[in-house]
Amino acid sequence: MPNVTFSSPQLKKDITVYAVAGDTKTLLAVAKAHKIPLSFECENGECGSCPVEVSLLSNYRKIGTALTEKEKIVLKLAGKITSQQIIDAETNDIPPPWRLACQMVLRDEDILVKF
Ligand code: FES
Repeated sequence: MPNVTFSSPQLKKDITVYAVAGDTKTLLAVAKAHKIPLSFECENGECGSCPVEVSLLSNYRKIGTALTEKEKIVLKLAGKITSQQIIDAETNDIPPPWRLACQMVLRDEDILVKF
């Protein structure tokens, strides 16, 4: 199961948390459970206040990433991802650089989350 490392100028040091097996919580829910100070407002993929830069740390094979429709719209409007990056995520197994923490469901891969 994944280790999620949070990194931010708002933290004294990077914090790594272990997500529970079978956990289908969002990244934001995991951050809140561990008192990581991610910003958020709506928690519903609409306000765009929770963008995070996500990179893969594990050596697992990259797997296709399903972004929610709300996430695609909000991240595109914010200039965080392009249409091509959405296609790459969904069909070419290339993770997008930015996600919305309230929409991203953790999978079995270790990630670094910058905010
Ligand atoms: S908290 Fe509003 S989009 Fe994530």
